[in-house]
Amino acid sequence: MHAEIVVLPGDGIGPEVAAAAVAVLEAVATRFGHTFGFQEHDIGGIAIDRHGEPLPATTLDACRKADAILLGAVGGPKWSDPNAEVRPEQGLLAIRKALGLYANLRPVRTHAAALGASPIKAELLEGVDFVVVRELTGGIYFGEKTRTVDSASDLCSYSVGEIERVLRTAFRLAQTRRGKVTSVDKANVLETSRLWRDVAARIGREEFPEIALEHQLVDSMAMHLLAKPREYDVIVTENMFGDILTDEASMLAGSLGLLPSASLGEPGAVGIYEPIHGSAPDIAGKGIANPYATIFSAAMLLRHSLGLENEAAAVEAAVHAALDAGVFTADLAAKGAAVSTTQATDTVLARLRG
Ligand code: NAD
Ligand code: IPM
Ligand code: MN
Repeated sequence: MHAEIVVLPGDGIGPEVAAAAVAVLEAVATRFGHTFGFQEHDIGGIAIDRHGEPLPATTLDACRKADAILLGAVGGPKWSDPNAEVRPEQGLLAIRKALGLYANLRPVRTHAAALGASPIKAELLEGVDFVVVRELTGGIYFGEKTRTVDSASDLCSYSVGEIERVLRTAFRLAQTRRGKVTSVDKANVLETSRLWRDVAARIGREEFPEIALEHQLVDSMAMHLLAKPREYDVIVTENMFGDILTDEASMLAGSLGLLPSASLGEPGAVGIYEPIHGSAPDIAGKGIANPYATIFSAAMLLRHSLGLENEAAAVEAAVHAALDAGVFTADLAAKGAAVSTTQATDTVLARLRG
């Protein structure tokens, strides 16, 4: 097949990890007889520097026409003044909203060879395999914001429709997995969470009676995730809770540099595929970032946007083989045993080419 992929490298380590994933997609094209076109566009801080805005119209137009979008990361100290008029992160939020990408799938798996990289006991980690479905275009991120000299506010609001659609994504996903959904909220305090819980219970009862649904408060969920991570199958939650819980969950796998994501909307929407981590300013430019999260994201792109399941599985198997062989970047490796971003990527490419 032929597919046009827009690449948004962004800032910090974004360009380093995006280049790794593009190389992997090129190897997939060669091995499986596809042709992929790659068009690079600016987003985030680099777009502010070059165009004066974090999401230029040229970028959004190209994304709308693409078959899929691969994104590195945005942000960094250069653009982080709390009083800045415009910020890189606004570009990312704007593109998710403009493309209607309300469901952010963040799979969390542990890897036998990397268990030692996690601060959690290995016996709790074997076989951990869950997906967080994070609502991505609503909640406190997108409510009205106000700021005066002596006060500020961020409004958190959700409509029934916004909750229903992401819940359905989670329940449908659970139908293809182990049949369990954990809905996470703060219904003991927040009105939006009480609505969330009501809607989750109704959708579960009326539309997915075969799926086991449980409700969990977000604070204790943060604890349970570390204490009994194998219990979970599909976890569904609102925007900010999902953001925070998945960075926490990355430590089960051993590094933020291992967790991919897919941001999806209604059928026909152009998906965005990106690692869950940020631009990692502390290691940017050193060639040591872990590329596996972005390569796993490329596998999700092949699966969800292009329908290429075998190709996606081949990419995932190649990364697993690299992990099994102990090919670790500095975030995972024992002292003195780390490889560079390029060496890790080359190992995946070699496995992929056979
Ligand atoms: P971060 O995710 O960039 O980094 C947190 C820590 O994890 C750092 O120590 C970093 O070195 C490490 N890390 C992250 N990715 C790694 C990788 N692939 N390999 C090895 N180590 C890795 O979070 P932060 O430092 O809080 O944020 C930095 C900037 O990134 C901020 O401007 C923030 O807004 C932005 N950000 C962007 C995205 C995105 O583009 N989707 C996501 C999160 C944060
Ligand atoms: C993420 C990031 C973003 C978010 C920021 C950079 C806007 O943390 O993709 O997880 O909070 O959604
Ligand atoms: Mn985040």
